[in-house]
Amino acid sequence: MYLGLDLGTSGVKALLIDGDQKVIGSGHGDLDVSRPHSGWSEQDPADWIRAAEEAVGELKAQHGVELAAVKGIGLSGQMHGATLLDERDQVLRPCILWNDTRSHAEAAKLDADPRFRKITGNIVFPGFTAPKLAWVKNNEPAVFDKVRWVLLPKDYLRLWLTGEHMSEMSDSAGTAWLDVAARKWSQELLAATDLEEQQVPSLVEGTEQAGSLRSELASRWGMNDGVAVAGGAGDNAASACGMGTVRPGHAFVSLGTSGVLFAANGSYLPNPESAVHTFCHALPNAWHQMGVILSATDSLNWLSEITGKEASDLTGELGEALKAPTGVTFLPYLSGERTPHNDAAIRGVFAGLGHESSRAVLTQAVVEGVAFAFRDSQHALHQAGTELGRVTAIGGGSRSRYWLKAIATALQIPVDIPADGDFGAAFGAARLGLIAAENADPYEVCIAPATAETIEPDAKVGDAYAHAYERYRALYPAIKGVS
Ligand code: XUL
Repeated sequence: MYLGLDLGTSGVKALLIDGDQKVIGSGHGDLDVSRPHSGWSEQDPADWIRAAEEAVGELKAQHGVELAAVKGIGLSGQMHGATLLDERDQVLRPCILWNDTRSHAEAAKLDADPRFRKITGNIVFPGFTAPKLAWVKNNEPAVFDKVRWVLLPKDYLRLWLTGEHMSEMSDSAGTAWLDVAARKWSQELLAATDLEEQQVPSLVEGTEQAGSLRSELASRWGMNDGVAVAGGAGDNAASACGMGTVRPGHAFVSLGTSGVLFAANGSYLPNPESAVHTFCHALPNAWHQMGVILSATDSLNWLSEITGKEASDLTGELGEALKAPTGVTFLPYLSGERTPHNDAAIRGVFAGLGHESSRAVLTQAVVEGVAFAFRDSQHALHQAGTELGRVTAIGGGSRSRYWLKAIATALQIPVDIPADGDFGAAFGAARLGLIAAENADPYEVCIAPATAETIEPDAKVGDAYAHAYERYRALYPAIKGVS
């Protein structure tokens, strides 16, 4: 048995698989995000431990015998968060999360230093870890002075699980301190934010062991001593391991809180100019590119909150057949945007509203706006040398057939829906746990699920989508000056 633990933004998921990778069961623990100021997004790391305990506790209640047979654990997590610890491993302040944009001025300053793009292959986005440390130094100097360790969220869970300060390549590539081609920390970049290499964890590949489960937890969960904890991965690379998106040419679109268009690469192919993220994959000698949109299902959730209707009811109102865009355009920049604009200050907009613009029209515009944001990412990946022939859809939003049709039509490529099952980040993490515990071949373990159905671009509304995308493209420069 192997356990995957995924520390998401809205909860922790624990997923148990057997040696044939069959899912035995899963458990969940909820998390909230605190937004004390506009652009801020924080969580208390103690809540991650509470949620992880809940998730594993649920598994134990339902599958105690199988849980006791776990040999390997893999971790996955929301990327980029700055978890700051003192010399006694005490948390110094709430973790500043990936979708927190308070450090945009610090990010712009670091990004203007050419060494960052050259060594990391990425823009220094405000969501990344390094500018957060620069913000803490500028605004909370007493906290900065006490920082002994900077850990990524899932690596804080590892510290609780194993007692080790360790990380792996895929998540660390999102800090802006990693030499992404060489897969090692850059002392030069750490020094540019007044940090030293001893303040960041030591690195392994995601498939390698990074600690063993502490005996206190092993006995609480009924496991043997010595359970291997794998390096694991940032949530996007972990999802890719779950989806079998590990070989060049394979790609997925993830409709989660954030939206990701992810392509696996066999070599390091940076292109920071088009705001593409180029990170290490969780497998040795592999890299990946992705376009990231900050508010994907979060955009629909926002509409759901202000209309008082469940998100699934909102998309249900659209019916089955894909409609031509109505002329109402939505830009999903509720917390700024990464790809392709790298603009933390921009905010979303509805344009073209009329008396006839019903709730369903607004929902349609939100769904289309997110699809067009993926179209922007597809273009950015194209500029970075990657052509997508087809993509597989994952994430909570992919339960909406209408949304997938909109994405297939906006991207003009087929979207595959995997056969029923759980192939997300927790599953990928469990696979990494298996690989580390058994020293297995990652490419034999990380295979793609069968495709249940393929959604083709809708020819009937293809032209209307192309026109609507032109309107969408024209809006960003138009609102930039007045946002
Ligand atoms: C990736 C990113 C998000 C988070 C979401 O760069 O910021 O996808 O990892 O959990």
